[in-house]
Amino acid sequence: MERAHEAPVRIVIVGAGYVGLVSGACLAALGHDVAVIDRDAARIAGLQAGIMPIYEPGLDALVAEQTAAGRLAFSTDLAAAIPGSVAIFICVGTPPRPSDGHADMANVMAAAADIAGALDRFAVVVLKSTVPVGTGDEVEALIRTRRPGADVAVVSNPEFLREGDAIGDFMRPDRIVVGTDHARARAVMATIYAPLAEAGVPLLATSRRASELIKYAANSFLALKITYINEIASLCEEIGADVEHVARGIGLDTRIGGKFLKAGPGFGGSCFPKDMLALMKTAQDHGVPMRTVETAVAVNDARKGEMVRKVIRAAGGSVAGRTVAVLGLAFKAGTDDMRSAPSLVILPQLQRHGARIVAYDPAAMANASPLLPGVVMAPSAEAALAGADLTVILTEWPEFAALDLERVAGLLRRPVLVDLRNLIDPPAAARAGLTCHRIGRQAALVDTSLHSALQQAAE
Ligand code: UDX
Repeated sequence: MERAHEAPVRIVIVGAGYVGLVSGACLAALGHDVAVIDRDAARIAGLQAGIMPIYEPGLDALVAEQTAAGRLAFSTDLAAAIPGSVAIFICVGTPPRPSDGHADMANVMAAAADIAGALDRFAVVVLKSTVPVGTGDEVEALIRTRRPGADVAVVSNPEFLREGDAIGDFMRPDRIVVGTDHARARAVMATIYAPLAEAGVPLLATSRRASELIKYAANSFLALKITYINEIASLCEEIGADVEHVARGIGLDTRIGGKFLKAGPGFGGSCFPKDMLALMKTAQDHGVPMRTVETAVAVNDARKGEMVRKVIRAAGGSVAGRTVAVLGLAFKAGTDDMRSAPSLVILPQLQRHGARIVAYDPAAMANASPLLPGVVMAPSAEAALAGADLTVILTEWPEFAALDLERVAGLLRRPVLVDLRNLIDPPAAARAGLTCHRIGRQAALVDTSLHSALQQAAE
């Protein structure tokens, strides 16, 4: 795509959350002049003081670097930031509505209205928030109603950022998708992403609706892939195969690819569940059922209950009166995010079966504590393990993979480990005297009587 301006250009980001902060800091790192705006004055004040409102590895350093370079600033005043800007990115939250779980567009429409009031020349309004198909049309209509004759183009530019890897995903994307039929807007987007395009990143120009759908189709497909390998894992447990070997065996087929084939307790996060629901709603609204996506949502929901039964079986048939040490609460490693985390379903069910839960997570306990009443939060993994009847690994934090398994076995009252992320090497667990129950592999039973005898002798 040809470019409209010589970089750098002035960009406004509306919304200082996961997407807005990472996008703003990275666009500054690409050389642009970026103003990040948020209505939350405390959040903005924190950012101006170098305090990050979210846990994202590397973000604090990148924000500090770009702020010091004078390319990144934070403010609550959108109207003051827009004049002279070439593009205004809407990066506000689109949380599921409590009533029906569908995307709540109030923040997006409010941002569009504020932008309409402040436009002073041609500008590109960029929808980076994940929005239902057709939202670009609604945003454009709202702006034109508020500012008849406004010289504006509304573009879809979905993000594909994974929490915990967001900066890398922005700076080294597999592709950039730009949804607009407006030639001048395409040229502006080509200018903005020029450094990445020059580095060889494919820049896909398509219609606005196709771009909006690409986001949902991508996330739903990734969730389908995870759901599929999770079901294959359950079959492996019954037929005595190892799901990791099966995943590798199919993943070497370049048509399948080896990523997102890690079996686990089920997908969570702020995106997959929300985006699948939004895609299903769009499909239903247009009379085109998405049964694959509906089935994956149901299978994934049911999986949490399967994980509870797996823990109960590992405990010998009951967890009543038992203490279960849970390692990991966040929906995945590398984040403090608890949205749709499997722990939010699995732990309460274990409690309902009479278990006492002691949990540890390196980053998510502050967010998790109010969501998990009755769960004792421990200051470390070892503190959680001490005296527990068994332990369950729920989130694949690297520090859990590095645990001294002999020490784990010694801290537990019964050396039983349920590894729902296949983090622990089964032979190492066996050598340490742990009975290790994994996903997609039959329990590597070890003779724990020898371990108990050695422990009694040592006491
Ligand atoms: C996802 C998409 O990856 C990203 O492109 C999009 O922009 C936002 O949604 P995120 O939700 O941050 O990113 O996390 P991701 O790493 O995709 O994991 C999503 C869920 O799938 C997590 O619960 C994770 O534990 C699970 N997962 C992921 C698996 O169970 N197995 C895998 O192999 C990969």
